[in-house]
Amino acid sequence: MTEQHPSMPSVVIFGAASEIARAMADEFARKGYALALAGRNTEELGVIAGDLRIRHQRPCHVLPFDAEDLDSHAGLVDSCTAVFGALPDGVVVCFGFLPDQAAAQRDFALAKKCLDVNYTGAMSVLERFAGEMEPRRWGFLAAVSSVAGDRGRKSNYHYGAAKAALATYLEGLRHRLHASGVRVTTLKPGFVDTRMTFGMKVPGPLLTSAEKAGRLCVRAILRGRGTAYVPEYWRLILLLIRHLPEFIFKKTNL
Ligand SMILES: NC(=O)c1ccc[n+]([C@@H]2O[C@H](COP(=O)([O-])OP(=O)(O)OC[C@H]3O[C@@H](n4cnc5c(N)ncnc54)[C@H](OP(=O)(O)O)[C@@H]3O)[C@@H](O)[C@H]2O)c1
Repeated sequence: MTEQHPSMPSVVIFGAASEIARAMADEFARKGYALALAGRNTEELGVIAGDLRIRHQRPCHVLPFDAEDLDSHAGLVDSCTAVFGALPDGVVVCFGFLPDQAAAQRDFALAKKCLDVNYTGAMSVLERFAGEMEPRRWGFLAAVSSVAGDRGRKSNYHYGAAKAALATYLEGLRHRLHASGVRVTTLKPGFVDTRMTFGMKVPGPLLTSAEKAGRLCVRAILRGRGTAYVPEYWRLILLLIRHLPEFIFKKTNL
């Protein structure tokens, strides 16, 4: 990616206050990228940006962004282009919403919000940047889906369905953009130690730190991977889970 850009490469991260996103921002800055951090809490993002600027000596901008405020997305490409002086090299979508499963079963609004944030909000952002990057013919788009999208489970199927929709969308986008040279990466983390998983009972060896997950995500993106499991051993775990016959799967407590 860097060789195609005349000056400093740039990336915008949506949902940049997420713990995985912070680790990705750190890694991109370490690799010489200028950053734009987009999210709801611009005050918190300002602190994160200040820290990145000091530690990496790279420009780091803050942009207000709410995944559910779809009307406001019309101005996203322009505001990113304004801060960098050009369309960014890359776009990473990292925001996500994991509702309490029992609450989402009782409350349709919560179940809908899960789809609105994880799928519709992500698709809205990616589609806008894809439209600009396709004619430019280079760059990268990436989004954080989840292993939860690989098979519906009683413990999180609203979230899993939304992440599956995102993964299928990204697969189609990758197909569409292949000829243009714009790379599209689907990131599928397993359990990562963040606010989202706080309090969950996860066997230690299956829990990855946000720092490691962020590093692996950036590596997959910059290598132009199509779909990356984070860490890679989740590919094998999900292969087994996906191939469990339904009559056995129904009896599990996953
Ligand atoms: N942790 C895991 O085990 C795991 C596993 C697989 C996939 N993932 C995915 O990884 C991504 C990052 O999650 P994380 O683990 O780093 O959790 P996190 O720290 O809780 O981050 C979630 C982020 O999503 C943002 N967000 C939620 N709703 C939003 C909205 N309407 N508009 C804009 N931003 C919104 C939150 O913003 P605020 O800061 O404003 O609240 C927060 O920064 C998510 O897509 C998640 O689904 C996580």
